[in-house]
Amino acid sequence: MENLLSGKRVIPELVHSTVLKIINSNSLFYNSLILLENKMPLQRKQKLIRKARVDDVVVMKQIINTYSKDELMLARSLSEIYENIRDYYICEIDGEVVGCCSLHVVWEDLAEILALAVNPKCARKGIGAKLVSACLDDARSLGMKEVFALTYVPGFFETLGFKVVDKNSLPRKIWSGCLKCPKFPDCNEIAVLKSINS
Ligand SMILES: CC(C)(COP(=O)(O)OP(=O)(O)OC[C@H]1O[C@@H](n2cnc3c(N)ncnc32)[C@H](O)[C@@H]1OP(=O)(O)O)[C@@H](O)C(=O)NCCC(=O)NCCS
Repeated sequence: MENLLSGKRVIPELVHSTVLKIINSNSLFYNSLILLENKMPLQRKQKLIRKARVDDVVVMKQIINTYSKDELMLARSLSEIYENIRDYYICEIDGEVVGCCSLHVVWEDLAEILALAVNPKCARKGIGAKLVSACLDDARSLGMKEVFALTYVPGFFETLGFKVVDKNSLPRKIWSGCLKCPKFPDCNEIAVLKSINS
């Protein structure tokens, strides 16, 4: 074989092994990129927490009902979400709704975190924490003093400064929501409470 530019003879095996080396090094490079993409896709993609809109509702219901099937959450109907849409925040990643959470005012100084759900494929990326944080900011701006949640994941809320409390220490008013729950009165959800005075 002759190198057309230099006119020198080139050994075909050498060309072959060099081409293979280039292909291999490129696939290593691309494999590394894919690995990187799989490891940190959410950090590189745009994560946005915003108030929910009516066109988010169908996906919000799907995410919530992923967990309600396993009785980890109360199922929500489309109408329940539409009626309370002003309470909801969502997390959007590259235009896709991947989580939601609502802040429901219960009394003059007390609000409840409800319907917190993150698409399982995006778990443990800080989305749940950001959604709760948006609700806490909202509660502060409304002049609330305390925010509570009834949950099966008290550990998650404890990382955000909530404290486990006796459910009976919460005002009677919260039981009106519980009356709608099919598990009532045999619910073993744990009450967590955070003071937001500061
Ligand atoms: C609970 C839930 C909202 C957490 O969302 P998430 O986006 O995965 O959580 P985050 O990544 O924001 O977690 C922040 C920290 O909380 C803690 N945490 C998260 N999930 C937890 C869990 N299931 N149990 C205990 N601690 C948890 C971890 O310390 C985590 O930080 P780390 O991942 O660096 O260790 C989500 O798993 C979910 O939708 N669960 C099912 C529905 C549900 O139970 N909702 C609560 C109803 S009140």
